[in-house]
Parts: sequence; structure tokens; C-alpha cells
Amino acid sequence: MKNLLSIEQLSAAEMKEIFSTATRVKAERGCHVDQPLRGQTWALIFSKSSTRTRVSFEVGIRELGGDVMFLNANDIQLGRGEPIKDTARVMGRMVHGAVIRTFAQHDVEEFAEFSNIPTINALTDDEHPCQILTDIFTFEEKNGPIAGKVVTFVGDGACNVPVSWIFAAAKLGFELRIAAPRAFQPSPELLKRAGGSVSCTENLMEAAAGSDLLYTDVWVSMGKESESAERIKQLTGYQINALLLAKANPSALVMHCLPAYRGKEIDAETFESHASTIFDQAENRLHVQKAILSLIRK
Ligand code: CP
Ligand code: NVA
Repeated sequence: MKNLLSIEQLSAAEMKEIFSTATRVKAERGCHVDQPLRGQTWALIFSKSSTRTRVSFEVGIRELGGDVMFLNANDIQLGRGEPIKDTARVMGRMVHGAVIRTFAQHDVEEFAEFSNIPTINALTDDEHPCQILTDIFTFEEKNGPIAGKVVTFVGDGACNVPVSWIFAAAKLGFELRIAAPRAFQPSPELLKRAGGSVSCTENLMEAAAGSDLLYTDVWVSMGKESESAERIKQLTGYQINALLLAKANPSALVMHCLPAYRGKEIDAETFESHASTIFDQAENRLHVQKAILSLIRK
């Protein structure tokens, strides 16, 4: 694996290798025998805010023996209009790998192509692959293989997080149900491209029935702030709460990629009663990304 740009471009075998490596690096934390990134410097280039992704990559790269520099995209010439492909060709001659959070998926792909160094998508408007790999790893750690299970996504079903879930569904053989207002459902073209067992409905109670995992994300993704009022209006009601959870399997997990907005996509009581899963999920970003870094280094 040279880059990690999307779940769409990842094979089931690559995902499984990431999961088994993550299990090992998680168990070895604090007593790593090998430091695969020793002597390397990695750049984190972020155009959007981040808590979990930034901290987990910075800590992970250091724990694997590497050095890391955080670059706010606005502080480098990229923010003043220097082309991605020039930035990539410069960085490629100096650093050993790049972790990029930005808007357009195309920008991450262009960076990977022109830098010729391992490049990781740390969230774009289209996908959030590190998040979904971590979510599936966390599910399997707690409830066993995800193949054959039912996952229900509630909320903005067309943003990066559900899109990465959509591409994972066919590859790993689970059923994905998206409960969202029609305007926030993924396009039929995308569903066709992804294949697998993915359905969309406006009826969230029906979508939750017999589900093994209820999952949600913010209603207003980064970059969509100007649509805030309209999104809140249309998405109101698409919430994980006790009523919805009562429809799911008794052993169902509740997950949230975070940050969480209580009273919007999840209510405070359900969030707190599932906080141990949700914060295990957040911690697992570190272990899964260390696995990715170990597998894609040059
Ligand atoms: N879930 C996630 O990616 O969190 P951050 O935006 O804080 O990195
Ligand atoms: N869909 C959210 C995910 C945050 C981790 C966003 O893009 O802001």
C-alpha cells in the first residue's frame, strides 16, 4: 500500500491487514520493539480544524520513531495560491510522508501523485478513511466480525463519513442502512459505484430495526457552516436517542466519530450511556493510524 487516499481505493485484504496490525500495535503500546519511522519526518498539512486526527497522528508518528511537523495550510504558500502540485514536489524532496486534511478529494490525490511520498487522507469533503477503518476495528474488537451485520447511519447521509461507510460495506460484506432526509441521502450514482447492500430511507425507526450498530456524525460538516440553519431545520429528528435504540438489537453499539452536538444528532443521555464505546473509538484512531503508518511507509 503506497497511499491511503480513500476506502474506495482500498481492498478488503488491505483493510484486514490494517486491522490485524492495529491489534498488534495496540497491544505493544509503550514497549514497541521496532520504530519503523525512525529517521523520518512527516508533514501534517491541514486546511480544516481537528482535535482527534491531529493529536493521534502527531503522537502516532512520534511513537513509531518519526518526527512530525504540523502545517496549517494558511500559513504556507498554499494558502496564498501556490499550486498543490508545486507544494507536493517541494515537500516530496524534503519529508518522508504527508497527512492531509482538506476540502477537495482531488487535492489529496494530486499531492500523492506529484510528491511521490506516502500520502494519507485525513478527511476530505468526499471521504474520511482513517475514521471508518477505526470504526470497523472498534466494532470488531467489541462485537466480532462485521460481515453479515447491520449498520445504521443516521443524519447527513451524504457527507464524508457515511460515504466512506458506503464503500466499506461491499468490501467487508455488511448491510448499511442510511436514514436521512432525501436531500441528505447519497446519490444513486455513488451507490451504484460502491455496490454492496446499501439502502436509504427517510424512516429512521425502520432503519434501526434489528441493527447491530447505530452511528451518527455532525449535521453541519466543516465547510458547510453557511448552510447551518437550513441543515438543522431539515435534519431535526434524525437523532440517536433511547427511542431509536430500543428498535436496534439488544447488543447494538452506538458510535459517533466526534465532535458531538448533544440535542442534535444524538441526545445527551444516549451519548453519555455509550461514552465508553465512543471514547474507545476515539482512542483507536491512534492505534489504527499507527498501523497505517507502519504499512505505507516507503
Ligand atoms: N473524528 C475526527 O476526525 O475528529 P477531528 O475533526 O477532531 O480530527
Ligand atoms: N463530517 C464531519 C466529520 C468530522 C470528523 C466533517 O466533515 O466536519
